[in-house]
Amino acid sequence: MYEPKPEISDHSHVSSLDVYRRMYERSIDDPAGFWAEQAESLTWFHPWEQVVDRDFDAVDFSWFAGGQLNAAYNCVDRHVAERGDKTAIIWAADEPGVYEHITYRQLQREVGRVANVLRAHGVRKGDRVCIYLPMIPDLAYVMLACARIGAIHSIVFAGFSADSLRERILDAGCKVLVTANEGLRGGKTIPLKATSDRAVDGLDLVETVLVSQRTDTEVPMTEGRDYWLHEETAKQRATCPAEWMDAEDPLFILYTSGSTGQPKGVMHTTGGYMTYAATTHKYVFDVHDDDVYFCAADIGWITGHSYIIYGPLANGATTVMFESTPLYPDAGRYWRVCDDIGVTIFYTAPTALRAVHRHGDEWVTKYGRKSLRVLGSVGEPINPEVWEWYHDVVGDKRCAVVDTWWQTETGGIMITPLPGATPCKPGSATLPFFGVDPLLVDDEGNEIEGNDVRGNLCIRASWPGQARTIYGDHARFKDVYFTQFPGRYFTGDGCRRDEDGYYWITGRVDDVINVSGHRMGTAEVESALVAHNAVAEAAVVGFPHEIKGTGIFAYVIVKPEYDDADAAELSATLRQQVRTVIGAIAMPEAVVVVPGLPKTRSGKIMRRILRNIAAGEFEDLGDITTLADPAVVEQVVEARRAAT
Ligand code: WTA
Repeated sequence: MYEPKPEISDHSHVSSLDVYRRMYERSIDDPAGFWAEQAESLTWFHPWEQVVDRDFDAVDFSWFAGGQLNAAYNCVDRHVAERGDKTAIIWAADEPGVYEHITYRQLQREVGRVANVLRAHGVRKGDRVCIYLPMIPDLAYVMLACARIGAIHSIVFAGFSADSLRERILDAGCKVLVTANEGLRGGKTIPLKATSDRAVDGLDLVETVLVSQRTDTEVPMTEGRDYWLHEETAKQRATCPAEWMDAEDPLFILYTSGSTGQPKGVMHTTGGYMTYAATTHKYVFDVHDDDVYFCAADIGWITGHSYIIYGPLANGATTVMFESTPLYPDAGRYWRVCDDIGVTIFYTAPTALRAVHRHGDEWVTKYGRKSLRVLGSVGEPINPEVWEWYHDVVGDKRCAVVDTWWQTETGGIMITPLPGATPCKPGSATLPFFGVDPLLVDDEGNEIEGNDVRGNLCIRASWPGQARTIYGDHARFKDVYFTQFPGRYFTGDGCRRDEDGYYWITGRVDDVINVSGHRMGTAEVESALVAHNAVAEAAVVGFPHEIKGTGIFAYVIVKPEYDDADAAELSATLRQQVRTVIGAIAMPEAVVVVPGLPKTRSGKIMRRILRNIAAGEFEDLGDITTLADPAVVEQVVEARRAAT
């Protein structure tokens, strides 16, 4: 147990475990009272009439109904009067040592101009805008500009392929795409405009492509469709009135992978999401006015939405946007940034910590890190050794470590320690945040009470940051999250509650693989493989990977005409195939050609066996007698052995 540090408790918003428990109990007993108080810290144009209304049968949740507000106004304008000259965003460029400080006043002007550009191109309240940008200030401006005029943004991580981008544009019906000529990351350029061109090729839906200029590279521009963003903003005034949005009006759509089918557009609304992002950001990171807060995620994922932009800016904080990678130009990059700009709160993913940790402590100790106070982790379970290293070496045993569990669908952090209040156990996300009521259920949906138990992690009741639907498919939303265990939100994660009531996330219990903290559906990767001519059938599983946490392992059966193909060559082609169809993050570590797959007599693939074989555990494969053809197992083991 790591006890809270008195020097942090002395100044923190929640100064002890007792204070946390009192506030927590109150938040569960009187959610309406608790959340109304939190929502008061936002600026509302019109007060709400009803704090919460939840209907688990219809899967209809509403927070702050009747209230009106604007997310961009809350993140920008309302801070200008009091702290117009305070730095809102510090942009840390890919080039080491290059920073740009953007004040709240500047941010207001930039957002206003971009908002006017969007309007000039016909974007109106409720329209969808797709954003495919690298981590540059324009990304923040464009998302806030959308929020300002009530357009719904759908940000697509700049590592996704043209096919993935196209699918997302189509699914959300986006009429405008915002991209860059190129991205720059770790010294390498990423051809975003070229990918965008392929994505929108022949799509009449997309009327306008706005192009931000990150590098000097020339790119082809299609007359009447493509416009340089900087040329467009130069034509516009900086003032743009903020749209009055209903609390339940959509703020954004963000695609994430699930067990089945193609990625789904998780939709968040305005009032509840903003309240939740701001409240969690304040308490979980113990944010004060003079903090420099650095979340190293990409805005293409939910962590970047909630904890680089919406939460921190709603709180008037100084937030860092980091364009580079933890290893560029070397493994000391994070800590160099911390020293250069005096970072007090740092938040990243275990996969990044593992990558840096591997290079040795000297890359950390080379830098002072004196400004750091709180260290956060998100996206996957953190190995206890890495937690201890984070605490002892990076944090000099002086900082609070917060292991935060949450999901795209939850909008914000759900299970987490609070700095200065919660004693920590390395590897455990510890206790629920205010207003969050977790429970464990068995596969039949019976609640497992008491401590020292394991089960499927569900959440009772509703919390303001909860996703409201899957864009265009409410039936799927109900089906995925609310049907297996009626009356509860099902997270898809397995979890243990220990003897002290602490929560330990054990990983996904569905067919989602968490690769480097990014969600990938096995079905998506399988369909990318099957799309190749050579592949008759594919099965994809996760296996333990030292840096990525989980790696992707694929088994394929090839069509007879490819029986004689060179296995190594084919495997390389198929790995590339997945990269082309989905993006580099989905590329399997290995693709192994097998003569058959272990299936039950009813034709269901036994993934458990494939997972064990992928992990190199050939000895104890459990009961294989229920297989249609048990001999297949030996053949798969052989193929796996031969391939590595
Ligand atoms: C996993 C990321 C263990 C979990 C914010 C969840 C974690 C999925 C943690 C959501 C954590 C996230 N400990 N596992 N602290 N945080 N996860 O939607 O499996 O990209 O369901 O949201 O990541 O991933 P998503």
